[in-house]
Amino acid sequence: MRYVVAGAVLRERGGTTELLLAQRSYPEAVAGLWELPGGKAEDGEDLADALRRELLEELEITVEVGAGLAERVVLRDDLTMLARWARILRGTPHAVEHRGLRWVGPDDLERMARTGELVPADEVWVPELAAVLRDD
Ligand code: C5P
Repeated sequence: MRYVVAGAVLRERGGTTELLLAQRSYPEAVAGLWELPGGKAEDGEDLADALRRELLEELEITVEVGAGLAERVVLRDDLTMLARWARILRGTPHAVEHRGLRWVGPDDLERMARTGELVPADEVWVPELAAVLRDD
């Protein structure tokens, strides 16, 4: 089994918590849609290490990786996607491979899910993400 590990990167801004979303530039089917940034772990690679590597490559940030979100997504028979909470230790996110980046609160996130602006596979995380964004 191979894994895609995505990061639910949070920041605090003026007493509210925001989540980092990244806009895909490829492939055609999902280009323009927003996702939790991340990517495939190498064979045998620790998943937290994989997420740190991917976010450094894609966004030029160093993150601290926390617990996992509850839901996992079966993308293909041999490919499962999961997500981990993360916080930035160093750097400011830059869209190296993505079309754009944005920080969202719970209302923005839920609106984007309703209007089909998220990568479909990531919609499963919206309730848990929105709950944490409201709670923190
Ligand atoms: O980002 P990358 O192309 O390496 O992702 C590998 C696979 O995982 C792709 O099929 C992509 O659509 C999927 N993915 C996803 N949601 C994410 C990250 C990746 O559905 N947040």
